[in-house]
Amino acid sequence: MGRFYITTPIYYVNDAPHVGHAYTTVNADALARWHRLRGDETKFLTGTDEHGQKVADAAAKNGVSPQEWTDRTSARFREAWDALGISYDDFLRTTEPRHYETVQKFLGAIYDNGYIYKDVYHGLYCVSCEDYYTLESSDEGRCPIHARALTEMQEENWFFRLSAFEDRLRDYYEHHPDFVTPETKRNEAFSFIRGGLRDISITRTSISWGVPVPWDDGHVFYVWYDALINYMTAIGYGREGDEVSTWWPSSHHLIGKEIIRFHCVWWPAMCMAAGLEPPRHVQVHGWLLMGGQKLSKTMAAEGVVKLTDIAPVTLTSEFGVDPVRYYLLRETSLGNDGEFSHEGITTRYNTDLANNLGNLMSRVATVVSSKCAGVGPAPRADSTLAPLARTAIADAMAAWDDFSPQGALEATWRLLNATNAYLEEHAPWKMAPGPEVEAVLGDALEVLRLVAVLVTPAMPGVCGEIWRRIGLSGAPDVAPVTESALWGLYPGGCSVDKGEPLFPRIRSDA
Ligand code: ME8
Ligand code: MG
Repeated sequence: MGRFYITTPIYYVNDAPHVGHAYTTVNADALARWHRLRGDETKFLTGTDEHGQKVADAAAKNGVSPQEWTDRTSARFREAWDALGISYDDFLRTTEPRHYETVQKFLGAIYDNGYIYKDVYHGLYCVSCEDYYTLESSDEGRCPIHARALTEMQEENWFFRLSAFEDRLRDYYEHHPDFVTPETKRNEAFSFIRGGLRDISITRTSISWGVPVPWDDGHVFYVWYDALINYMTAIGYGREGDEVSTWWPSSHHLIGKEIIRFHCVWWPAMCMAAGLEPPRHVQVHGWLLMGGQKLSKTMAAEGVVKLTDIAPVTLTSEFGVDPVRYYLLRETSLGNDGEFSHEGITTRYNTDLANNLGNLMSRVATVVSSKCAGVGPAPRADSTLAPLARTAIADAMAAWDDFSPQGALEATWRLLNATNAYLEEHAPWKMAPGPEVEAVLGDALEVLRLVAVLVTPAMPGVCGEIWRRIGLSGAPDVAPVTESALWGLYPGGCSVDKGEPLFPRIRSDA
């Protein structure tokens, strides 16, 4: 058993969360739950990024102080995560004193190591990205992501000597082929490095909403410079009870592809500059799109879509918590872009949940009730389903381990398809009560038990309910999974509860 430290980006609190943020957070949650199920000591960190121009502007626009605005908006992220059943171990806000302390210690170490110097910054800036552009990297003076005019900036700033890390980063990438996954994103990150690195301006005097620079009054850190360090704050860097050596070697950052450069170039260099190893692994994912465009707070602000329509809490009340989680995990693999739509959720729901998993549960429970007096029989060791189940278990476990919730669910659904076909073939509902019908139902109950175990990281609520309905005590999410995901453990003699449909069909024309 190992350790697993997984993080999401900390989200800007300029506006409320939408389903794009939920995509990352639900994937991180499922992976954290998987590792807990494996028996790994797990820490799952998320939180909110509360400094910077963009947040200060949002507060001003709403006529409140930045602190009041961030209190209010950060709470909306927590509400969304509560609605989605997110099992974070820590929710970090960058306005917390513990973060100020770690940022000042961490950047103090980089300063002491000689990688920070003063110069005049002159260039272009996008407030929506909170990122710098050159004329060449811009879209004719506009932000290539937000299509907004870039702001000209000139200030005396402190700079981080990123250029000093070019060779070490190259070397690191060459020796750690799995540092960034998937490979296409690794290549992208690596090519940034090979393209040459410029030093970065890391402080501001034009705004005061930020973490103060300890060695120069009147300067605050540039928001990305404090934000990345959140991953250190949560493990106590530079503070009492520092657990960096415990967690850092097992750290995994899950991020969207627009912030590759920060996480895969700047951040490992900052770690090196502070005298630490880079994080263990960065898993990059693509974007949820609407009409081919990245779903974003900016898009919502521009009225392209109503933020409430794509708010996690709206979706969970419309479709239920587990179906939304399932859709986010199953529809788009980590690394690719995917189109998000309400029709897409409805289709997944009806096809995979109502007609497949839900149908298997209700068929089995109904026939157990009519043919076996409601008592679930035991499975057979030599069932034709047993080898299929073993393959599904091995494939699903490998996929979960490999940061592929989608692959894990696909593998599990292959077993569900096979089991529904097996029931069609044997039609236990036509059989007379007796050993034959018991054998078929015992096998199907065992599949339901195994599915509850393999799917619990994705749909914890529903899997707990399946477990209860097939008459088992305890819960499907008890570690270690290597002892529960084995064919043949359904004991039989359990009282099976028919219950209401797990997933009542949604009329797609509704
Ligand atoms: O970038 N599809 O915060 P942010 C998929 N504060 N994922 C999406 C998405 C979409 N359409 N929209 C957002 C920041 N995300 C910084 C991060 S970390 C030290 C600082 C997710 O509020 C995705 O994970 O802009 C993306 O990377 C993140 O939200 C950006 O959130
Ligand atoms: Mg963003």
